[in-house]
Amino acid sequence: MKYTEGMLQNDALKDKVIIVTGGGSGLGKAMSRYFLTLGAKVVITSRNLEKLKATALELEQLTGGTVLPLQCDVRVWSEVEQMQKDSLEAFGRIDVLLNNAAGNFISPTERLTHSAFDSILDIVLKGTKNCTLALGKYWIDNKIPGTVLNIVTTYAWTGSSYVVPSACAKAGVLAMTRSLAVEWAKYNIRFNAIAPGPFPTKGAWERLLPGDLAEKFDMRKKVPLRRVGEHQELANLAAYLVSDYSAYMNGEVVTLDGGEWLQGAGQFNMLEELPSEMWDMLEAMVKAKKNG
Ligand code: HXC
Ligand code: NAP
Repeated sequence: MKYTEGMLQNDALKDKVIIVTGGGSGLGKAMSRYFLTLGAKVVITSRNLEKLKATALELEQLTGGTVLPLQCDVRVWSEVEQMQKDSLEAFGRIDVLLNNAAGNFISPTERLTHSAFDSILDIVLKGTKNCTLALGKYWIDNKIPGTVLNIVTTYAWTGSSYVVPSACAKAGVLAMTRSLAVEWAKYNIRFNAIAPGPFPTKGAWERLLPGDLAEKFDMRKKVPLRRVGEHQELANLAAYLVSDYSAYMNGEVVTLDGGEWLQGAGQFNMLEELPSEMWDMLEAMVKAKKNG
């Protein structure tokens, strides 16, 4: 058994219809692939239909499953409504919404124009709101149970310099997750979130670690387990959270980061760098003070 292998039994998502926003690339594509393997029908959406069509073909060939690629800018309410309508026409129902689409780039905040700031808030927070509200109304009106999984980040609660619009937006998504987990539980709609640590993707790495930043700031060193995440590890957790196995889990955010954010937070974690000979010396020094 390895962490790079699928975890759930083969029919864990049999016949579930799952919408994955931003499903044409990166982590959305990896999660979609695993959902298909587990028997789900998957709608992948983003702004770029050509990319989505190529991904859909690739995933269908790899898994033998059914993928519907739909162009939909999550910022635009009418496009979200149309995407929902087209999904229902194709599959007859929708069981799961995975809010994965995001925009991000690094920048000193004072360099941002007001509309650059908005562009991230609009994709991440407003986009998640649009999809959640559209699907929520459909589930509630039709008395259908629903499941929402939101992809956030650990800086949703720590905050982070240089990605401030993303941090604000992800914090909002986390608040939405916890708020609606309670408010819509009476309608049988569950909400959970995953906060991934570093999982290399083209989309994230090109915008967050451009040029030689990836070499300069080796992300593995930020992680106590000294490695980045494997896409299948995230897909395993996501599949569990959208499956009926997690039926009693609601309002939770699961961190999957090898301990990264805690390494940054613990006040004395920098002592990891000390060699063991130095510990002998330090221990002797501290004990000598106590005895004196
Ligand atoms: C400063 C920038 C900028 C940059 C864009 N802008 N990039 N400002 N530094 N690097 C400004 C533009 O000048 C423009 O300002 C405004 O932002 C909008 O840019 P557009 O290119 O017109 O927007 P749009 O075409 O809508 O593209 C959105 C985008 C782009 C977010 C800027 O990067 C994108 O499409 N991203 C989607 C995929 C993505 O970001 N993936 C990474 C997710 S990773 P004006 O003033 O002209 O309006 C992630 C990881 C989190 O979230 C945690 C990691 C550990
Ligand atoms: P990615 O491949 O760039 O994924 C982002 C996706 O969002 C793209 O498919 C993009 O497709 C789509 N998108 C962007 N704007 C959109 C819009 N307005 N409407 C619809 N779709 C839009 O990056 P990723 O790394 O896989 O990120 C996936 C998720 O994981 C994001 O929520 C991100 O914040 C989160 N995350 C990633 C990491 C990491 O280390 N990779 C860590 C923590 C959290 P189009 O460009 O075709 O629209």
